[in-house]
Order: sequence, then C-alpha cells, then structure tokens
Amino acid sequence: NTPTITVIGSINIDLVTVFCQMPEQGETVMGERFQTNPGGKGANQAVAAARLGANVQMIGRVGDDQHGQDMIQSLEKERVSTKMIGKVPNINTGTANILISDRDNRIIIVPGANYEVTPEYVKQFEQEMKSSDLVLVQFEIPDETILYCLDFCHEHNIPIIVNPAPAKQLPAAYWPKATYITPNESEAKQLFHGEENLDGKLIITQGEKGVSYHRDHQKVTVPAHTVNPVDTTGAGDTFNGALAVAISENMDLEDAITFANAASALSIQKFGAQDGMPTRTELTTFMKVSMKVSDT
Ligand code: RIB
Ligand code: NA
Repeated sequence: NTPTITVIGSINIDLVTVFCQMPEQGETVMGERFQTNPGGKGANQAVAAARLGANVQMIGRVGDDQHGQDMIQSLEKERVSTKMIGKVPNINTGTANILISDRDNRIIIVPGANYEVTPEYVKQFEQEMKSSDLVLVQFEIPDETILYCLDFCHEHNIPIIVNPAPAKQLPAAYWPKATYITPNESEAKQLFHGEENLDGKLIITQGEKGVSYHRDHQKVTVPAHTVNPVDTTGAGDTFNGALAVAISENMDLEDAITFANAASALSIQKFGAQDGMPTRTELTTFMKVSMKVSDT
C-alpha cells in the first residue's frame, strides 16, 4: 500500500553560478560555471519522496512564465502530481540565485509566486490533505500558511513534518502541533535553544556530524556517511523527503532517520539540488553496502 504524501511549499528555479572569488563592490569577475536547475525546498522534497516510491502531490504556485512552465514539467517527469500547482499572473516564479565559491555558498531568493501560497489558496485542497498519510512543509511560504497547515493537520490527526528552513520563529504554541521538526544545526540554535519539551519531536541534521534526536530523553546521534561531496545544495531536502517516506511507511524513528541520512549522503555526490537524489533501489543498495562496511 503506497503512502500518499502532500508537500506544501516552494518551487524555485535555481540559477547556479560557480566561481572562485567574490567580486568587490563595483568589480566584475569571471565565473567558472553556470547552470539552471529545478529547485525550491518544497519541490526538492517532493522529488526526493517521489523517487523513493511514494505517491506525492504538491500544493504550490508558480508565475505564469516560462520558468513556471518548466518547473511544472520537471515535477511531472518525476511523477509528482501537479494538479494543485497554480499559476499566478504578473508575478515571477520563485528564483534562487545560488553563488558557490571556493569559500562558501550564498543564496538570494526572490520568492515571487511562492508568497501567493496563502491559507486561502491551500484551503481549496483540504480534501486532498485529509486523504494523505503525511504532510510536509518548509518555510519558503508565508507564515500564516505554515500556521494554518499546523492547525489543520493537528485538528485532523494528519502527521506533519515541519522543516523550518530558512529559519523563522513561529508563535510558541504552534511547534507542539508538529509531529517532527527538522532544523539543521544553525536553525536549531536560532529557534530551539533549550526547548526540552520539544525533544521528542526535534530531529537535527548536522552535516558531517550526522543527525541527532532524543530517544527517552537521551540524545542519540546517527553518524553521517563518509562521502566525497560535490554539491551539498538540497541535502536537507533529500533528508526531509526521505524521512517523510519512511515515516509514512511506519518505519520506526531510528530506521527512518538512518534511511533519510543515507539518502542525503547519496544526493550530495552530484551537482544540483535534485540531481543525485536516489531511487529506492539505489538507496537500498547503498545501505546494504555501507552496513557491510561498518560490520567489518
Ligand atoms: O534547499 C535548497 C533549495 O533552497 C534550493 O533548491 C533553492 O531553491 C533554495 O530554495
Ligand atoms: Na545533488
């Protein structure tokens, strides 16, 4: 019985520039590589879950432009249902300018149509939300929409994973409505300093340091896989999409985190947020091999 996952979130086109040195004010430098990729945390997480075999439907909005057209097409290719993706006139499809230099990554997002994913827009799809096994949201849509999703899922007993990326604070009463909350290390520092009452819900991704969560009030860390990273963009999205699949298949939490952790290790070995996200077979094979390695 294949679970259905509803992703409510952003769709961006990623404009990725790889270069050596950041230009000074008023200066022009030559970069090394430019690529446009499908992106946006919502779309990335939807694709990650679909590749791993879930039925995925996405609620989101794009502009009535070529980028929007392209992003919808690429989601369809990935078997993500786009019936609930609307086009908004006179506004841009979300863009993410991703600058990758020797030293760090910097991203500028122009949300455009993603900020038109209002509670009113999402409300049209309450039936579809109710009939899904799990809802997944991120923070590239308006705050009111995130709050609405938490209220709705809580009220109707639908498991909801909240990926608070990029970080913004919500009214404290809302966090407990999430089934799981999946910040990275810096988001966790900003948002959940000392929130022991959320311990059972927090799953913190920490890059090379692995993933930590609490089991019976004890901190547990699942170690990261040792891989050669090519591009870490979308690593967190792969983790969240995979976690959603595992939880909706009723895996226990530790297995679910191990599964998602492995998926994200595979994803960073290819350039681009969505390139490198594994299929179910690729992931199972990788997990078998790495278990054998750790046995010896
Ligand atoms: O998490 C990675 C994503 O964040 C990119 O695809 C970009 O669109 C930004 O939203
Ligand atoms: Na990748």
